[in-house]
Amino acid sequence: MAKKTHSSLKKSTSEAMVYSSDPTTLLSRIRSQDIVIGVVGLGYVGLPLAVEFAMKGIRTIGIDIDNRKISALQQGHNYIQDISSENVAQCIANKTLSATTDFSVCGECDVIYICVPTPFTPNKEPDISHIVHSTEEVAKYLRDGHIVILKSTTFPGTTTKYVQPILERMGKKAGKDYYLAFSPERIDPGNTTWHTGNTPIVVGGVSASCTALSVAVNELIIDKVIAVSTPEVAEMEKLLENIFRSVNIALVNELAQLCDRIGVNIWEVVEAASTKPFGFMPFFPGPGIGGHCILIDPYYLSWMAREVDFVTNFITLAAEVNESMPFYVRSMIEREIARQPVTMEKAKILLLGMAFKRDVDDLRHSPALKVAELLLEDGMKNVSYYDPYIPETEIHGKKVKSEKKLTPQMLEKFDIAVITTDHTSFDYEMIVKHSKVVIDTRNACKKVKGAKKKVRLLGEGKK
Ligand SMILES: NC(=O)c1ccc[n+]([C@@H]2O[C@H](COP(=O)([O-])OP(=O)(O)OC[C@H]3O[C@@H](n4cnc5c(N)ncnc54)[C@H](O)[C@@H]3O)[C@@H](O)[C@H]2O)c1
Repeated sequence: MAKKTHSSLKKSTSEAMVYSSDPTTLLSRIRSQDIVIGVVGLGYVGLPLAVEFAMKGIRTIGIDIDNRKISALQQGHNYIQDISSENVAQCIANKTLSATTDFSVCGECDVIYICVPTPFTPNKEPDISHIVHSTEEVAKYLRDGHIVILKSTTFPGTTTKYVQPILERMGKKAGKDYYLAFSPERIDPGNTTWHTGNTPIVVGGVSASCTALSVAVNELIIDKVIAVSTPEVAEMEKLLENIFRSVNIALVNELAQLCDRIGVNIWEVVEAASTKPFGFMPFFPGPGIGGHCILIDPYYLSWMAREVDFVTNFITLAAEVNESMPFYVRSMIEREIARQPVTMEKAKILLLGMAFKRDVDDLRHSPALKVAELLLEDGMKNVSYYDPYIPETEIHGKKVKSEKKLTPQMLEKFDIAVITTDHTSFDYEMIVKHSKVVIDTRNACKKVKGAKKKVRLLGEGKK
């Protein structure tokens, strides 16, 4: 049983801890930080969250099924780029943060955040098995006064139709014995302005007390917490955020292709439209979308909508355009090969950037990876990449290593360099100067003098 004794906890005659589920008592314990936080799933979302609580001096226990992550943390090692390694080492050393694969520690925790992946199946249907499995583990240790907060992005109804019934198998009731809410994550890896503490967050509980207690917990580490009426509103607003991005990126990706045909530069168009001080927000074209969110999440809603005979046309159309972009980039590359005295088989292609977006080490569903796969499928034998964040990857089941260093000599070996991810550490002057031809899918060379001669820009409208 729990080692830590809280002022509000009573010991029964059997010496077992008796936890209060009284919301007023819980609220006062939250406000005085007399609680233990549990975080299930220590990835891009879970570990920063756990470290944020631990850095406040609140005892925090991280739980994950990945032994490598747990042993790294136990040794004080950080594996998430966005958080400070010193903070992780410090929290582990002073024991505010601990990590384990053993779910029985849930009994010791007062709050349990669930931050596990929500991928899709090969047919692009939601796979909430990680939520289900982790909830089943939490349910084994569910006790009075527990506050469970689901953070994984998912379709409306997951909290009440999937998580709640699992937690209540042993008869406990949300809002009475324990508390349950959905509070979506907004972390944006690589964003140096907006981080966990200063990004407002939304919370929707299954009852008023579930919401109030979950808001209070989040307020310990987040400046602004917005309560909504139900978990479904919170689930849906997260999907709206991501679908909003997906649809707008798709729009500009489609217009980029049109601009290529009619000889208008889409980048100049977006820049010009951005001068409107209201009613316009710039989005930029690119080689496609990736990561664990914007590509996947819209499919969660379109799958759910089918259950009520509803077709989410915007989502489907946006997915169609965004997922066609790596194919469009492939056609740009193949057109360029056709202009050079080299065959497809012998052409040496260098992809610059393999991560799904700038300055991150996240490869999940990266459009660059898709471009590499498509080139290999077309019979190209010499496709290489350079990405300081991704030293090694697998393309079509084959291990491939990044080129070691971005140097003039390395660039000169290739027939075409393709900027697939616009990492800020890339020296674009050098890339343009020492490459034979550059295909720029991100407008990364816009400030390089003389770039026009060598650079083929996606959506530049060159006839
Ligand atoms: N990465 C982001 O930028 C981001 C932003 C907002 C929301 N989200 C959402 O947050 C959720 C988590 O995403 P992430 O990027 O942190 O994923 P991740 O893959 O980086 O981390 C998830 C962690 O959960 C662990 N895990 C899987 N199954 C488990 C189980 N049954 N029990 C315990 N641990 C388990 C994994 O080992 C992994 O360490 C997803 O729903 C995602 O859509 C992610």
